[in-house]
Amino acid sequence: MRFLTVIVGAIFGVTFCKSSQHDVIVIQLLTVNYTNPCQRTFITVHIDPTLSKRNNKKKYNDTITNAELKIISQSLFDEDKKNFLSLVNVNYQGFLNASNIGEDQAPESLLQIDTNILNNDPIITNMKRLYDNFEMNSSIDEIKTDEEEMEENDFIKLIMETSVMKLTMEILAKAGFTSSDPHHHFKLIKTLWFDFYPRHRKLNRTSSGFEHVFLSEIKKGKIIGLHNWIYFGNVERHNQLNYKGWLSKVKLRDRAQVVKVNFSLNGLNKTVSSFFIGTSPELEMALYTLCFHMRPNRSCRMTCDGIPFSITTYSLTHDNRKFVATAYVNL
Ligand SMILES: *[C@@H]1O[C@H](CO)[C@@H](O)[C@H](O)[C@H]1NC(C)=O
Ligand SMILES: *[C@@H]1O[C@H](CO)[C@@H](O)[C@H](O)[C@H]1NC(C)=O
Ligand SMILES: *[C@@H]1O[C@H](CO)[C@@H](O)[C@H](O)[C@H]1NC(C)=O
Ligand SMILES: *[C@@H]1O[C@H](CO)[C@@H](O)[C@H](O)[C@H]1NC(C)=O
Ligand SMILES: *[C@@H]1O[C@H](CO)[C@@H](O)[C@H](O)[C@H]1NC(C)=O
Ligand SMILES: *[C@@H]1O[C@H](CO)[C@@H](O)[C@H](O)[C@H]1NC(C)=O
Ligand SMILES: *[C@@H]1O[C@H](CO)[C@@H](O)[C@H](O)[C@H]1NC(C)=O
Ligand SMILES: *[C@@H]1O[C@H](CO)[C@@H](O)[C@H](O)[C@H]1NC(C)=O
Repeated sequence: MRFLTVIVGAIFGVTFCKSSQHDVIVIQLLTVNYTNPCQRTFITVHIDPTLSKRNNKKKYNDTITNAELKIISQSLFDEDKKNFLSLVNVNYQGFLNASNIGEDQAPESLLQIDTNILNNDPIITNMKRLYDNFEMNSSIDEIKTDEEEMEENDFIKLIMETSVMKLTMEILAKAGFTSSDPHHHFKLIKTLWFDFYPRHRKLNRTSSGFEHVFLSEIKKGKIIGLHNWIYFGNVERHNQLNYKGWLSKVKLRDRAQVVKVNFSLNGLNKTVSSFFIGTSPELEMALYTLCFHMRPNRSCRMTCDGIPFSITTYSLTHDNRKFVATAYVNL
């Protein structure tokens, strides 16, 4: 097999190589050993674009292996230059298990986020502008005003400009899920995450992937969704959320933490919810979007600096289109 090496810009630690004989795309990722940062190894990821278009059950895991997904997740963490973890105070307090069901083991809040993060990162300030655009009650249809549409487009434009999203789109394009056209990337993210779909059969537009994952929804008197630490910290700061304790947690070294917690929001319970702490919105959306395509309706195994974690995504079909029903990091 002959290889034609094409370096596609200044993406840290990653080069793309294209096979000219077959349609197989070979991505070479430069991996770094974190216990020994001088040790760098090239790992080759093979993606067959024709497989992802084939309508068979094996298509997703034939396209890209679990080992390759782990390398890609590491590269996405490396690509994300932001790390907010040192600016968040995480106060875990009581551990919850079967012996203390229904108890509140945490008098204090879980997160105290340095307001500098919230006010100085353009993506986060734009994300916060979207918070009042949604009707949390999933029994009520959503309406999108022109202003809300503009805010949403601004947010998407900003995240599409980040290198973490560009790398994700590069990989999805090479796997045949999208083209190399940035307009298609914008459309893909907008449709998947921001277009409305129903969570109730009789309605048409009650929910969006973004609302569910990056904010929260109410269904049958319970909180559903809520898988973003910035939103969690925001509702805690406004005394709307009562954190009751943690069920499990893991540190992704000094990059991020993952936690599974129990809480109530506006008096409505949520038994478990898991999310990253310290990650940027664009990194979360990149990881979720990658897993949504590569491992839909299943667990997507990843690593960060040698620590394993997984992401679960579910897709939902409405009007012959696929949407993010949910996406979250798992423990
Ligand atoms: C990383 O480096 C450490 C220390 O040199 C070594 O023990 C370990 O085997 C390396 N890991 C990999 C995956 O190469
Ligand atoms: C690949 O997909 C098949 C069928 O969906 C499944 O049984 C199998 O566990 C998958 N393998 C991996 C490595 O994910
Ligand atoms: C719950 O956790 C406590 C403290 O770690 C432990 O002592 C207890 O055995 C656990 N109970 C159950 C039912 O797992
Ligand atoms: C979490 O809270 C709910 C109330 O929504 C409670 O029923 C459940 O047992 C709690 N879970 C744990 C592990 O304590
Ligand atoms: C929420 O959970 C608590 C126990 O954690 C329980 O006492 C309360 O009744 C629940 N509230 C609702 C509305 O289900
Ligand atoms: C959600 O909306 C439905 C329909 O209007 C209503 O019956 C229900 O009480 C609302 N739920 C909450 C928690 O406000
Ligand atoms: C949902 O959309 C369909 C088709 O456009 C329409 O017939 C129906 O009335 C809508 N339902 C609601 C509750 O808006
Ligand atoms: C995931 O499951 C949902 C609901 O069962 C289904 O509509 C959707 O097509 C599935 N997605 C994939 C990619 O298999």
